[in-house]
Amino acid sequence: MTPSICAIFCVVLATHLVLAEEVALPSSVKTCKKDSEDYSSCLRLALQESWPTFSNGIPEFDLPRLDPYDIDFQESVYENGEVRGKVTVRDVKTYGLSKIRFLSVRPHHEEGRFRLEIDMEIPKSFIEGDYKATGALGTFVMGGKGYFNISMEGVRATWDLDGRVENDRWIVEHFTLLPEVRKMNIFFTDLFNGNQELNKAAMTFVNEYWPLLYHGMLPTVSKSWDEFLTNLANKVFSKISFSKTFP
Ligand SMILES: *[C@@H]1O[C@H](CO)[C@@H](O)[C@H](O)[C@H]1NC(C)=O
Repeated sequence: MTPSICAIFCVVLATHLVLAEEVALPSSVKTCKKDSEDYSSCLRLALQESWPTFSNGIPEFDLPRLDPYDIDFQESVYENGEVRGKVTVRDVKTYGLSKIRFLSVRPHHEEGRFRLEIDMEIPKSFIEGDYKATGALGTFVMGGKGYFNISMEGVRATWDLDGRVENDRWIVEHFTLLPEVRKMNIFFTDLFNGNQELNKAAMTFVNEYWPLLYHGMLPTVSKSWDEFLTNLANKVFSKISFSKTFP
């Protein structure tokens, strides 16, 4: 192949490879011009208005329904000094993600990079499912399995999405958040294999000290969320044109 034929052929091929995967954003999703004066408030409104489209799930993006969001199975292991534990959850449903209120959006365009900070609030959320837990505090071993639910109010977080821009695609590298929760109520059955008294005592303890327990878990949990959410965000952004989405 002569260089000039290669040039044409390769450009066509490369363009085709990039465009082959492109999916148009649903028409209900508005876009905002980055040189407009109200760019960040425009983005906030566009996100708020199009959120129902996303939270219903979009098959073209392989994006699941987010309300309720279903988790079939998840296992987490916890180890911190004397405290060790393993919790497996099944058939978990999370409600409330469709009711997200977007408070503000801060876009940062840089050479070859893009970052979005999104302040949001979930007024109410409810999670329920089945669990199995084993744990140990020093030599004191406990465990059980049953049903659990968690009600939360006033969940606030800043979504921080950061990544590079290549071939007109935003490649999200990190999607981090550290949610603050105003109110949490936790319910579970049979943590001690049918011992109601112990189960009740544990529930009282957890409902009193949840802020401490929650903040203790947050750094670990936040890391696994990052991996999961980065993957979820890239299901969308790997298939849409960056320049058309953020013109
Ligand atoms: C959580 O589960 C308990 C026990 O089944 C139940 O009494 C309670 O109503 C549930 N919470 C909500 C908000 O449904």
